[in-house]
Amino acid sequence: MLNIIICGAPGSGKGTQSKLIAEKYNLKHLSTGEILRNEIKFQTEIGKKAEQFISKGQLVPDEIIITMLDHILDKEMNHHKGIILDGFPRTYAQAEALEKLLKKRNEEITLLLDLKVNDEELISRLLKRAEISNRSDDKLDVIRKRLEIYHQNADEVNNFYKKLNKYVAIEGIGTVEEIFSRISQVIDSTINP
Ligand code: AP5
Ligand code: MG
Repeated sequence: MLNIIICGAPGSGKGTQSKLIAEKYNLKHLSTGEILRNEIKFQTEIGKKAEQFISKGQLVPDEIIITMLDHILDKEMNHHKGIILDGFPRTYAQAEALEKLLKKRNEEITLLLDLKVNDEELISRLLKRAEISNRSDDKLDVIRKRLEIYHQNADEVNNFYKKLNKYVAIEGIGTVEEIFSRISQVIDSTINP
């Protein structure tokens, strides 16, 4: 199977690129952020817990998110050619847990794609989206908090995958098509070295 992680700061284009990758390579797109927003919409137990963290731009606690992903993998894995994980793992503990979750299913991560975009561009993209989105975290003070938390955790997660030789940085500025073409080249050369 082809199991990809796409990571990068808030607004770096994870969701936009994941949809294109999922379609081209027949992967299941799993965005923990989108799944949580859906849980909030239906006011489930997870949703009620997650809401207070998301609206403040903080991370939902590891144990909640890891248990949630375990259940999702039970449902979604094996029905596709692989998965594209968008926004998970976000902490070192989540990266370690993911290894175990995949190992017990005889699977592993193929590749991590890290979308590189500077903070100025990220804030501009998210403020633009705020005009049309109803996301509780698309407000300037919460956007700044999301960026701060991202920068606190990113190195640890990226280093985890660098050590496994699975880390690839992608220039995340340009048109959506240009970035997708960069990503496709990396994926294709990983599948057919
Ligand atoms: P999550 O939903 O993952 O949000 P995020 O990381 O803040 O990122 P976004 O979804 O805002 O941006 P994106 O990178 O997907 O970019 P997009 O394609 O939308 O997480 C939300 C919250 O949930 C977290 O803060 C946390 O509380 C919780 N959470 C989620 N996962 C968790 C985990 N694992 N552990 C703990 N807590 C977790 O693009 C952004 C905008 O830019 C769009 O308007 C888009 O149209 C535009 N755009 C895209 N590409 C380009 C381009 N090339 N040029 C110009 N504009 C572009
Ligand atoms: Mg997203």
